[in-house]
Amino acid sequence: MLTQSKKDELLNAIKYNPSSSPRPYMLKIRSNPYLHSILNKLRIWYSRNVLSKSLKDRYSNNKSKFILNNVESRYVNELRSNGIVVLEDYFDASFIDSLEKKVNCIFRDLKIDEHGGYNVAHGRLKTLKGMTYEELAISEESIGMLNPLLNVPEFVKIAFNESFLKIVSTYFGFIPSHQVSSSRAFPHLPPMESSYFHKDSGNHEVLHIFVYLVDVDDNGGPFCYIPKTHKNDVKSCSPMTNYDLGIKKDYGRISDKEINKFYHESEWMRIKGKRGSVVITHVNGLHKGPMWMGDNIEKLKARDIFHINFRSSVGVKKENKSEKIYKKDIKNFSELQSLFLDNYEIIES
Ligand SMILES: [Fe+2]
Repeated sequence: MLTQSKKDELLNAIKYNPSSSPRPYMLKIRSNPYLHSILNKLRIWYSRNVLSKSLKDRYSNNKSKFILNNVESRYVNELRSNGIVVLEDYFDASFIDSLEKKVNCIFRDLKIDEHGGYNVAHGRLKTLKGMTYEELAISEESIGMLNPLLNVPEFVKIAFNESFLKIVSTYFGFIPSHQVSSSRAFPHLPPMESSYFHKDSGNHEVLHIFVYLVDVDDNGGPFCYIPKTHKNDVKSCSPMTNYDLGIKKDYGRISDKEINKFYHESEWMRIKGKRGSVVITHVNGLHKGPMWMGDNIEKLKARDIFHINFRSSVGVKKENKSEKIYKKDIKNFSELQSLFLDNYEIIES
């Protein structure tokens, strides 16, 4: 059990403390939604058509492998229109339960990425090494599993689901980079980091597929998305971040109050669902999650998800392959699945 003084010491160490201010010319652009919209559209166009040219060519050369059935075509259209598709109960609950049993043990045993998480990324902590589960639960927004495809090989089936690969590539018109993670998000009131509204990127395409590994209700931290905000139109570029407004709270992200000026709460889509439900979402749109609500933290439950991250190129040549997968798990891969292994180090056994 953590003592109050230890708790206070930890919470003080991770306190949000912005060290920089926005550059004046960026602030000028972001204060003008018309300029902001044009700039983002240009940057995305450049990433999609110039930096990702080789990914586009690869898609064109393999187009016959990406033929969609009617349902998949419908999902692509829905994604184009709304920026989000929800597939309820897509994976069988008993399959997910068998995974979640392993996932829970792995998180409890702290087989986690010790250099992951917002506190390390923003220099508030050097590493998560040596921290107890209880300490992590009060100080981290979420923890990520170390090498998820090695620790839970059943994830391979989800990560390389052919339908997912076809839908995402057809939507983009190129073969995106492919990365995976499995995370446990801890409830916090007030919320932390990505639980405030934001867009994941303004300069390249980012699409996430995540699978709920536990049932997610209002108390389980549902993902929240504002449909049709993924196209960088003027309206979606209008809400200002706290960082740009000079408000030093909520991690510099966009407050609910600011969002409400442009998108009434009734337009926010909160995605609740049973374990095995899938969310496909273009996170260049406005979103937050997990969305923790209410004033009683005792009611809130940690949320486990498996997550596939697809991106267009940002033009930086990667030296290291960031993901790992066992050779035995890809031996029966189709040609389509094998197209997504560029980012993977193949481990013998
Ligand atoms: Fe995000």
